[in-house]
Amino acid sequence: MSYLNDNELANIRNSISIVDVISNYIPLTPKGKNYFGVCPFHEDHSPSMSVSQDKQIYKCFSCGATGNVFTFIMNYLNLTFTEAILKVAEMAGVSLDKDINFKQPKKYKNEYELMDITCKLYQNNLHSDLGIEALSYLKKRGIDEEIIKSFNIGLALDDNSLYKILSKKGYSDQIISDLGIINITSNGIFDVFQNRIMIPIHNLTGECVGFTGRIYKNNNSAKYINSKETKIFKKGDILFNYHLARDSIRLKKEVIIVEGNMDAIRMYSCGIKNCIALMGTSLTKQQVDTIKKLRVKVILMFDNDNAGEVATFNNGNILEKAGMNINVVRLSGEKDPDEYILKNGIEALEDVIKSSISFMEFKMNYLKSNKNLNDSKELADYIKLVIDSLKDITDPILKEITLQKLANDYNISYSVLASELEKLPVKIQMEVFPEEKKTVKSNLEKLEEEIVFYMMNGYNYVTIYSNKLGILPDKIYRAIANEVVYFYSNNKMTSLADFLSFTEKSLYKEEIMNIISTNNDISFNEDSFIELINIMQNKMEREKIKNLKEEMNKEFDINRKIELANKLLEIKKGSVVDENN
Ligand code: UTP
Ligand code: MN
Repeated sequence: MSYLNDNELANIRNSISIVDVISNYIPLTPKGKNYFGVCPFHEDHSPSMSVSQDKQIYKCFSCGATGNVFTFIMNYLNLTFTEAILKVAEMAGVSLDKDINFKQPKKYKNEYELMDITCKLYQNNLHSDLGIEALSYLKKRGIDEEIIKSFNIGLALDDNSLYKILSKKGYSDQIISDLGIINITSNGIFDVFQNRIMIPIHNLTGECVGFTGRIYKNNNSAKYINSKETKIFKKGDILFNYHLARDSIRLKKEVIIVEGNMDAIRMYSCGIKNCIALMGTSLTKQQVDTIKKLRVKVILMFDNDNAGEVATFNNGNILEKAGMNINVVRLSGEKDPDEYILKNGIEALEDVIKSSISFMEFKMNYLKSNKNLNDSKELADYIKLVIDSLKDITDPILKEITLQKLANDYNISYSVLASELEKLPVKIQMEVFPEEKKTVKSNLEKLEEEIVFYMMNGYNYVTIYSNKLGILPDKIYRAIANEVVYFYSNNKMTSLADFLSFTEKSLYKEEIMNIISTNNDISFNEDSFIELINIMQNKMEREKIKNLKEEMNKEFDINRKIELANKLLEIKKGSVVDENN
């Protein structure tokens, strides 16, 4: 194993031009100092992405995507950051040890290791004498040794043996319990999962982070129980089977989303590998982001029951608002894709998938259910619902087709329908996630942002900041400034493009991208930066004085009051602040 440090990373980056790399994937046209192209990271037809030869970064003025050559390749080809580095190195003809890793030790190494061991212990149990009944349940369901192996399926026993073995290996009760595998109670310590068939759940990069356990003997408890949320298991981030399905999804340019993990396991084992499962929940923002990044068509194939229909409607709406192309498969006869395959065979399921319908068509049928369309009032309600659901759709052709269909089916004039649609207020996309809305920045925040942006662009600004200011009022800007200082003091002569590689590991990645994409590449110079720093110094002192004064007014203890007055005097002496200002 060899390690890459920031300088080696910068070397690879410098061996190839970002303009050459990006133009392999999207056409770029030169305009002034920069190149422009259609941004591949959101639905767009106009060239809103600029690529800077000087700075070796890209920026989209529409969706805010920004980064360097590594992040472009990572996001465009849907690779991990390490994979992207390998790819860029290959394009640049830089030879690298295949086995590269980052110099940083992996976060949560112990936790992942412990999950791995647990997973292996469960697998051993399944193949021990105590696993006969569970194994025969699996066999009966058509889950053979090959599937068991490729999904690392195991068994949790009821003798607390997992806890005993893990603690014998030296793991503390705390770490095991934090991972949701054991319960510490006043009556003793117990394994959380007992008498269940255990299916590991992996994160997007393929590490085992949790489990889902299924009952296999008749008993009254829940059919599945899942690991609780832990440091490494964030349910809302995970898509079951994503790590195995990703390559096939990219290849087929299509992802099939099912409800149950068993459905994904069955489909994958039968060769439909572009399949992920939601594990019975509704899509979160993170999951939508992950799916969106794949830039492929989505097929929803949920269970053949009422809940599955509602889930199709809800999740379809979420994906539609995120601007994705969605089709729907509704099964008939069997309950879910797993049972469908067992009963009718894989080819039959493939045929059903081929005849999937558009989400809009599904929605029109869905909205019809429980309505008596012979009743004029109910028919009118139905038509309003369909028109209402058209207002978020960006595709004008789909709108037209749908209105046409409504007009034909119910013998209503097309122009009446179209004018009803016109009347509806247009919703802005992505309103599904209201917490995402950008807040208006105060002047102080804008100033902080500008200072941080300057700093990202060169070591000289970092030095000025450290010498003259060294701190910012806002917690996040301060933390970002600290990261910039840290980066530039370790790698003296690097640039914004290199800082962007470093940012991949930052907690503030999103904020940093935001700052870069919203601030213009003003021609930087030290004088204007010093001016910004002075203004900030002024503001911060004024704030300090104001706070001290307030404190003084509230203070009853005369000694303390004098102490505060002295402090105030001290600040005023050294400052240029006009306090009446
Ligand atoms: P299903 O009941 O459709 O599960 O629930 P399934 O995958 O078809 O399971 P089998 O075939 O009976 O073994 C869909 C998903 O909802 C979650 C699971 O993730 C399941 O895959 N679920 C279901 C639970 O978390 N707990 C439950 O008790 C039931
Ligand atoms: Mn099932």
